[in-house]
Amino acid sequence: MSTAVITPLAEARDIVKRYGPTTALADGRLTVLPGESHALVGRNGAGKSTLVRILTGLQAPDEGTVRFDGEPAPPLADRDAWRRKVACVYQHPTVVPELTVAENLFINRQPLQRGFISWRRLRTEAADLLATWDVQVDPEARTADLKVEDRQMVEIARALSFGARFIILDEPTAQLDNREIERLFTRMRALQDSGVTFLFISHHLQEVYEVCQTVTVLRDARWITTAPVAELPRRALVEAMAGESLEALAEQAVDPGDVDHDAPVLLEARGLTSPAYENIDLTIRRGEVVGLAGISGSGKVELAESFAGLHTPTGGTARLGGERLQFGDVQAALKAGVACVPRDRHDQGLVAGMTIGDNATMSVLDRLGRFGFVGTDRKRGFATALIERLDIHAEGPDQPVSDLSGGNAQKVVMARALASDPRLLVLINPTAGVDVKSKESLLARMDSAREDGTSVLVVSDELDDLRRCDRVLVLFHGRVVAEHPAGWHDHELIASIEGVDNHG
Ligand SMILES: Nc1ncnc2c1ncn2[C@@H]1O[C@H](COP(=O)(O)OP(=O)(O)OP(=O)(O)O)[C@@H](O)[C@H]1O
Ligand SMILES: [Mg+2]
Repeated sequence: MSTAVITPLAEARDIVKRYGPTTALADGRLTVLPGESHALVGRNGAGKSTLVRILTGLQAPDEGTVRFDGEPAPPLADRDAWRRKVACVYQHPTVVPELTVAENLFINRQPLQRGFISWRRLRTEAADLLATWDVQVDPEARTADLKVEDRQMVEIARALSFGARFIILDEPTAQLDNREIERLFTRMRALQDSGVTFLFISHHLQEVYEVCQTVTVLRDARWITTAPVAELPRRALVEAMAGESLEALAEQAVDPGDVDHDAPVLLEARGLTSPAYENIDLTIRRGEVVGLAGISGSGKVELAESFAGLHTPTGGTARLGGERLQFGDVQAALKAGVACVPRDRHDQGLVAGMTIGDNATMSVLDRLGRFGFVGTDRKRGFATALIERLDIHAEGPDQPVSDLSGGNAQKVVMARALASDPRLLVLINPTAGVDVKSKESLLARMDSAREDGTSVLVVSDELDDLRRCDRVLVLFHGRVVAEHPAGWHDHELIASIEGVDNHG
């Protein structure tokens, strides 16, 4: 019997990519076989997204080659040829929100009838395309109104319609809740059965085991290993990513302190109501860490945003340290001592054109210098310390944040929130996109904030984040349906999040 050699669907070899002084990839390698779901994992800044940019023809490598089906990749300028090979779906939409699904599917290549766009044909072709891939989305819906997972499926269908059978998903689950993730996986498996190949990037390692057959690990810009998922247990996978043993990693973990049940009340909210939630009472003591959990649409994000001035309640009051908190005003909230890691670091988080140092310190400029004058050295020193404390993978404080990898940008947002020495820290999915090891250091920052008396309100879909809380409140359809003190079991919390234990 002869073993046939399978031609890889996509193959990258000896890839080197530099950005100025940064070597984003020193030895990038990847071999994806047809029909598999292949995971690409590594710590923040390891080079995953860089490899994706090279695999999708958005950037040329400085060295190395890319092949599809054994053939050299098309020239960079030939976008159409690349589109027929591969497409990447990101956390952030590449579809136009104001257009309908059908328009997005056929943007710039609308079917013409005697030189005019035929809207009827556009609709039927869109419906056919969606039906072919079993995507249950209304072609007439405005794309902005779609759920994230449906928007992702529309992007996948669009890629398939160009002929690509190789789809890259760069952290598709970072902003999805558990149910949405399950639905995405069901659809991925169905597409895989119809012959679609996936490259899947995620910091949630359990997902790698759930949907992928093969995994490639990158570390510090280099290929480390490629193995069948079944042959690389979680322990070995984490060690390959971190380059350290699990024992060494565990030693770096910090033990969270105990709650002081007699600490004075910092935040007291009464009867808060908005279209997203109803009649919420919430009290947080000094130095207390309170978690908010719930499915998408439960109101947990809006509730947390209310204290940071990002969402405005229509009724109710909140007091912070006895003073009435003004709603709907981010500056006022910041002045009152509320700092926030917002939901969307792209829209609300960072100023892309500014340096890491400027972004991290912009909320504290008045403290760093008097009369509006901030000594550059002081600012740099302060920013350098933050970069160190939060383990941000960067050249230094003068690098623009737009250069940072996703997870490292998230850490800058956290640095900025901490820099203002807040009384209340509002964290919305603070560890989204952050690698396993950095997660630990980010959560440790949360613990130390608590030690110096800062109160924390953290919204998260991740049980690991919520486990660090003194108690977790669960919202369901805008109401608090459960409260779990620290020490809960996963299944208890999941049950109340899913709303299965609160009938009655
Ligand atoms: N345009 C750029 N200019 C300068 N440096 C860059 C640029 N893009 C990426 N880098 C650097 O290259 C390295 C690899 O970044 P990349 O985005 O590939 O990481 P990643 O593995 O995707 O990380 P994450 O998990 O955080 O998304 C990082 O150190 C990053 O700061
Ligand atoms: Mg990335």
